[in-house]
Amino acid sequence: MSVRPGQGLDLSAFGLTPETYWSHCVTVLTFAEEMASKKVARFGENFSTAALLHDFGKLVLSEHLTPEHRELLRQGTSGCSMVEHESRVLSVNHAEVTAVVTQSWDLPEDLVKAVQYHHSPAEFDHPMCHGLNIPNQLAWRLESRAAQLEQESESLAVSMSALGMTSEKLNSVLHDGSVRLEETMEIYS
Ligand SMILES: [Fe+2]
Ligand SMILES: [Fe+2]
Repeated sequence: MSVRPGQGLDLSAFGLTPETYWSHCVTVLTFAEEMASKKVARFGENFSTAALLHDFGKLVLSEHLTPEHRELLRQGTSGCSMVEHESRVLSVNHAEVTAVVTQSWDLPEDLVKAVQYHHSPAEFDHPMCHGLNIPNQLAWRLESRAAQLEQESESLAVSMSALGMTSEKLNSVLHDGSVRLEETMEIYS
């Protein structure tokens, strides 16, 4: 029997179940590795670990949410991004919590910064931040998260520009990564 992160947690405030949380992490990991294999940029040796851990803060937060927090988070974002909504409701967001946790584990600083800014890569202009933002948004495409894609379309453009990534390259990562994902899911299922 396999034990996965998030098993038994109520992640509904983030629109997730433990299963969809885990499949999102594996999808982001797969697209991140596809970007690395296509040499989109030199992301560094911690890139895959950052991709797998990037949303870990959701697991931590979900254990501490009050019923009022859960209700406010579920009500939606009223125009701002989900991360901004978390910050308004909780005074902290899952990316910041992931950074605190990975720092407390003494993980490398580039990984800590990448997870902290994976929704706001312009704030820490580093290839790994942009390199996490892009596969995260490709995962949303597969998950049909249209609202989140629209809210963060500007940051996708920023990250593509920072890495010199064309739309053709993005589409090839999406295509080849999706093929790779089917194989990866077999391994993790
Ligand atoms: Fe995230
Ligand atoms: Fe994510």
